[in-house]
Amino acid sequence: MNILAIETSCDDTCIAIVSFSKKGYKVLSNIVSSQVELHKKYGGVYPALAKREHEKNLPLVLEKALKKAKNPKIDKVAVTIGPGLDPCLWTGVNFVKTLGYPIIPVNHIEGHLLVNKINKFPAMALIVSGGHTQLILVKGIGKYKILGETRDDAAGECFDKVARILGLGYPGGEKIYKKAKSFKGKTSLSLPRPMINQKNYDFSFSGLKTAVLYSKVKNKAEACKEVQQAIIDVLVKKTIKAMRDYRIDTLILGGGVSANKELRRQFKKQVKELIVPDPKFSTDNAVMIALAAYYKKPKKNIKPDANLRIC
Ligand code: KG4
Ligand code: ZN
Repeated sequence: MNILAIETSCDDTCIAIVSFSKKGYKVLSNIVSSQVELHKKYGGVYPALAKREHEKNLPLVLEKALKKAKNPKIDKVAVTIGPGLDPCLWTGVNFVKTLGYPIIPVNHIEGHLLVNKINKFPAMALIVSGGHTQLILVKGIGKYKILGETRDDAAGECFDKVARILGLGYPGGEKIYKKAKSFKGKTSLSLPRPMINQKNYDFSFSGLKTAVLYSKVKNKAEACKEVQQAIIDVLVKKTIKAMRDYRIDTLILGGGVSANKELRRQFKKQVKELIVPDPKFSTDNAVMIALAAYYKKPKKNIKPDANLRIC
């Protein structure tokens, strides 16, 4: 069975074709058309511009994806219905309807989660991206309980905003990681670890960018190292607490920030079993949408919907 999946929730126009068999799956094509260059000057994603670009890119990306996969027979199509930027989601939803196949609606967060091969339940999942920071108890496929989330900025958003303050460009995560790596030794700068000792599983990252803004940064590499460590400290401490509280050994990471090698290294030291995606599947892509769609049935009247089904 072949699924063609479309992902347009943010600033990447993505189409993938994945072939499923009893033995597993094979990615026949995976096209990601990035709009990063366009949004760079705004230091973040500009929704109206992103929508226009998706409309322009979708037919071209579809042609590329079909050609790369050698024009296979398509059985079903899948599309991201949320969470994301509403005008961008509508573009994907309207486009998929023109293709004339049964449509499977997919939640973006579930895509980031199910791009991982999970064979043991319950598991804990931390989905960290530019738009979301969620700690999820995964009881099974389709059975999720959101334990905590960010109350303001997402972890990736914090990387992006701090990178902008430091003049490093957009998107900021990878840039901060590289700059942080170049700083050897202990940092003299001390940034807050928001909500780290609170009993709940929620996060808050907006104060961190303000703290960077008002601290006298003498060395950009040092500031990168400290802000990256502040984000990691909070994510690790709260996730480990949730895993202890729920007696869970397996942790799944997903979302753009999960590409961060330092975050992976520090989690690995603390967790019995760590499941992480191939870095190219950490950031937005349509393979993850096809993989999540595999477990679902086509539906009628598809429209954007941000809710992850909670069981
Ligand atoms: O999952 P994603 O591609 O899009 C959303 O669903 O938001 O995540 C993008 C986010 C951006 O904020 C970007 O700065 C961050 O992921 N990111 C990273 C790294 N690579 C991407 N953050 C930290 N370290 C990285 N290596
Ligand atoms: Zn994402």
